[in-house]
Amino acid sequence: MNGDLSPIDTAKFVAAKRAVEFVEDGMRVGLGTGSTAAWMVRCLGELVREDGLRIKGVPTSTRTAELARKVGIEVISLDEAKWLDLTIDGADEFDPDLNLIKGGGGAHLMEKIVATASDRMIVITDASKKVETLGNFPLPIEVIPFGWQTTKALVEETLAGLDVLGQTTTLRLNGEAPFLSDEGNYIVDLHLERIANPRQLSLVLNQIPGVVENGLFIDICDVVVIGHGDGRVEVN
Ligand code: 5RP
Repeated sequence: MNGDLSPIDTAKFVAAKRAVEFVEDGMRVGLGTGSTAAWMVRCLGELVREDGLRIKGVPTSTRTAELARKVGIEVISLDEAKWLDLTIDGADEFDPDLNLIKGGGGAHLMEKIVATASDRMIVITDASKKVETLGNFPLPIEVIPFGWQTTKALVEETLAGLDVLGQTTTLRLNGEAPFLSDEGNYIVDLHLERIANPRQLSLVLNQIPGVVENGLFIDICDVVVIGHGDGRVEVN
């Protein structure tokens, strides 16, 4: 499956390959979204097709659902699964406490619901996502389209009172139109540079009416599997 891969794809692939070793027969597994998670879905599909692994997968986006079905994974809804043994997903940043920024692909709402409903969350990543302090990657917040400009202004007002460096907010676009999440919402990206207190920021953002969910994952991730371009893998 790994053919002639670039160093970055090698890193993602080896992290995914190592992470699927945590999956056992009969498990209900949350399937993340993004390019690294796609490697994991392909690796799981191979185990299903070739080794007879029996799992049920709960995808975190329509993209992942399509890929999972294509590679032979049985797909069920979270409500059918009720609770999951394990979720494997990518991340945009992780810090030494394994807190994350997610949502670069605009799927953090479903990703957070699924990861929270899991006994364990494993993040798969390349080494470039490791940071001392979260915030260099723009923090996505999903907002409902109704009154989004007012919501964005309230977010900016809230940020002004917090210990964050930058305070620019931008509506995520898809061409000229607003990017739409799978739930039909907009994404506002917060360019903060440095988030001194991610737990506080997450709580405060989610209290603003119109904000559906932010991309900070606090105390949700249990293990990070880091792949390297030379094929090495670290499990943290
Ligand atoms: C999608 C996500 C992804 O997990 C995150 O953006 C990482 O993606 P990639 O593996 O493509 O770098 O949170 O909402």
